[in-house]
Amino acid sequence: MKRTHTCGELTEKDIAKEVVLVGWVKSRRDHGPIIFIDLSDRFGITQLVFNSEINSEIHHQAELLKPHYVIAIKGRVVERLKGYENPSLPTGKIEININEIEILSKSETLPVDIDSTDYRISGTKEEDCVSSSELLLKYRYLDLRRPKMMNNLIARHKIVHKIRDFFNRKNFIEVETPILTKSTPEGARDYLVPSRIFPGEFYALPQSPQLFKQLLMIAGLDRYFQIARCFRDEDSRADRQPEFTQLDVEMSFVDENDVIATIEDMMKELIKEVLSIEIKTPFPRMTHLEAMNTYGTDGPDLRFGMKLHSVSDLLGKSNFKVFQETVENGGVIKGIVSPGNKNTEFSRSEIDKLTDLVKEFGARGLISFKVQNNSLTGAIVKHLFPEVQHSLIERMQAKEGDFIFLIAGELNMVNQALGNLRIHLSNKLSQNIGSGENLSFCWVVEFPLFRYNEELKRLESEHHPFTSPRIEDIPLLKSAPLKVKSRAYDLIMNGIEIGGGSIRIHSSDLQKEIFGLLGISPEEARHRFGFLIEALRYGAPPHGGIALGLDRLVMLLLGKDSIRDVIAFPKTKSATCLMTNAPSEVSEEQLKELGISIAK
Ligand code: AMO
Repeated sequence: MKRTHTCGELTEKDIAKEVVLVGWVKSRRDHGPIIFIDLSDRFGITQLVFNSEINSEIHHQAELLKPHYVIAIKGRVVERLKGYENPSLPTGKIEININEIEILSKSETLPVDIDSTDYRISGTKEEDCVSSSELLLKYRYLDLRRPKMMNNLIARHKIVHKIRDFFNRKNFIEVETPILTKSTPEGARDYLVPSRIFPGEFYALPQSPQLFKQLLMIAGLDRYFQIARCFRDEDSRADRQPEFTQLDVEMSFVDENDVIATIEDMMKELIKEVLSIEIKTPFPRMTHLEAMNTYGTDGPDLRFGMKLHSVSDLLGKSNFKVFQETVENGGVIKGIVSPGNKNTEFSRSEIDKLTDLVKEFGARGLISFKVQNNSLTGAIVKHLFPEVQHSLIERMQAKEGDFIFLIAGELNMVNQALGNLRIHLSNKLSQNIGSGENLSFCWVVEFPLFRYNEELKRLESEHHPFTSPRIEDIPLLKSAPLKVKSRAYDLIMNGIEIGGGSIRIHSSDLQKEIFGLLGISPEEARHRFGFLIEALRYGAPPHGGIALGLDRLVMLLLGKDSIRDVIAFPKTKSATCLMTNAPSEVSEEQLKELGISIAK
């Protein structure tokens, strides 16, 4: 039997047609002489009817069908009886009277109950899997059979298709770059692949196609993009996987504004097509300094306010010792306001939890007040004169019933602690803030080129070593490298970094100087990046680009909490694949061939 239609396409206009459908038995309902089967495939569900009064042999065969059997049927499309239609299905007005059936494949009882919404686990033979989510990863192909999961993959496919279409129309060329390559520093550990032909030597899997896309600009490709797989040996989180996909872009003869405008155009088009929402461009831009000072993070979520306010000048002179000492020692006092109403009272134990949270970031404590009758209540309020209380309320634009939280200490620590407290509180208050705006974008620009690694006592790139410093800051490279700003930009969507890029260094000498400042000796630079330094000498056009985290973008567009939901076969937190059991040991013979012995 050859399929004539999918399970999602037959409607009243097909009544009386003879059809062949294939698919999985989703459910069987026995009503004496009549058996109903819901047959499903990725396109939908169609109701099959086996009537013993019409065909007793077929009815008997239907009694043998179990959930998840794969079958082919031949039958005639008929109208459902009045009152038995299912308006929630496109096929809900018809059913198929079956006259032929073939079982293509049987199924044992599934180890996970994918038909119930609470993922109940049937059987307990899976001792290794401590939780249902692990079991679902082990049987990912069954999990993906659920329409919800299948739809995530289909939506991802459509998004990628639209992205490809956009860049194709804008004259970009899609190029595949190598997977077996040399290390590209993006701040994580490399995954290494041993060479058999050169024992003791290794390829690295790319952390990004960064160097290859720059070399493509030197080749003269002018406009490049790639849906590129990247590999980073770092701890997984909800928005991080060891193996992930970037939309990677590079352009020649451009400045920051050209790259930013290209991505804004793409996002506008994509969001219109996928979500039918018209977003406003250009996106707001904020300097790194402003983002840190106002939101306590370089990835600010602008869907709600709760900005950080500096109040050192107001409180530094109060007779509260912690405030005095902090300011005398060059620290700051900053705070945020948590909007108050009857849903947002904080109990003692909740305040204790918030205090524990900020302590994780190094804060010594969290000071809280409530605004009542235009003055403050709270533990240390006796140290603040009424005028100071009023100035504080005014500065922080707090209203009656609001809570004010303050932290005193070193600037970076205070920003980070308050930034995290802000996000934590916004989750608690999510019903009360945000005014329904679901998508928020912003560019963070003017990053420092370097940060100082206290442990290693040396400079590190804030992005990667190929990022150009601002031209006007080049004279500062030697004298005050930490003051040098870069030509980098990050794209933030709903408080998540979905992309980062920069204008690149296209001078061999400047690139060598940057390697030097990063503590990479000329020999090491030649060994690791000699090909790039040389290529920059043979006519390198000014160029720049960006990479967006495709998994993160799809996750946010589909309103999911984790990138795992939009990756077909994701890895666990500890970078394992529960389905294939990778990573796994290899044979002695393979190790011998590679010249590797394992130190236990
Ligand atoms: P960057 O390292 O910022 O830049 O990466 C770009 C974007 O990729 C996504 N991303 C990840 N997504 C899932 N899992 C991960 N482990 C992961 N790591 C990063 C993020 C991030 O914003 N070569 C540069 C880009 C450039 O300069 O053009 C780069 O890779 O969304």
